[in-house]
Amino acid sequence: MEWVHLSVCMSLDGHIDSDCGRRLILSSEEDCHDMHAVRADCDAILVGAATVRRDQPRLTVRYPELLAARRARGMPDHPTKVVVTFSGDLDPDSAFFQKGGPVVVLCEEEALPAARARLGTVATVIGVAAADGVAGILARLDGMGVRRLMVEGGCQVLTQFLAAGAFHRLRVAVAPFLLGRAGAPRLAGPAFYPHGPDNRLRILSTRTLGNVAVIDMENTDPRVLAG
Ligand SMILES: NC(=O)c1ccc[n+]([C@@H]2O[C@H](COP(=O)([O-])OP(=O)(O)OC[C@H]3O[C@@H](n4cnc5c(N)ncnc54)[C@H](OP(=O)(O)O)[C@@H]3O)[C@@H](O)[C@H]2O)c1
Repeated sequence: MEWVHLSVCMSLDGHIDSDCGRRLILSSEEDCHDMHAVRADCDAILVGAATVRRDQPRLTVRYPELLAARRARGMPDHPTKVVVTFSGDLDPDSAFFQKGGPVVVLCEEEALPAARARLGTVATVIGVAAADGVAGILARLDGMGVRRLMVEGGCQVLTQFLAAGAFHRLRVAVAPFLLGRAGAPRLAGPAFYPHGPDNRLRILSTRTLGNVAVIDMENTDPRVLAG
């Protein structure tokens, strides 16, 4: 894998969504455009199954000049959408499968037959061993020709990529408000992270995009597949 770009938007107290019914708006229009530019530069975008169930994210490139740039490079309009799932419990009739780019489902081996039966007409369903973790996910995608991957969350997925050190770039957009809800999901959960106080990520830039602060960070020791 040539490039893995993690991207997330959070509140000042680190929440990436609310825990009540309504979806939490964190981004600004300017941040959204910038985030789509990262999407436009990637072959595929990966999210966890819980994010698909909750948000039905489109994971498309929505801005005409970004679409034009992809076409000029001979890339399809929209990146491939990748969802990881242990259970395979996803709705084939949902917007995630019916709109936007092609979908790849990376499903834990035991649930694979049922997932293929349920989702095989709307997605490419591929097995991945839970024990192989992030390395297994990257190997599968690399084998499908994905060279540049964006990872958009949620918490469980980001925790695994951050803990594995399996990324080149981390983009965090910080919305200037506090949510203050203990049950709301955060950017990452408890884990052993390679980037602690004595081994920090390198800040490449801090930018104000609308009323959101965007921090771009580099992992100088990415643990991803070579190639
Ligand atoms: N603010 C942002 O930038 C942002 C971006 C994305 C998401 N979010 C928010 O994040 C929240 C969801 O986060 P979350 O932590 O609950 O869930 P998540 O990370 O989106 O998805 C977790 C699910 O992914 C599957 N999974 C995780 N690791 C896997 C692996 N190694 N192999 C196979 N499957 C794997 C499992 O699916 P199964 O359950 O099917 O077994 C697991 O339950 C939502 O509220 C969403 O709105 C925020």
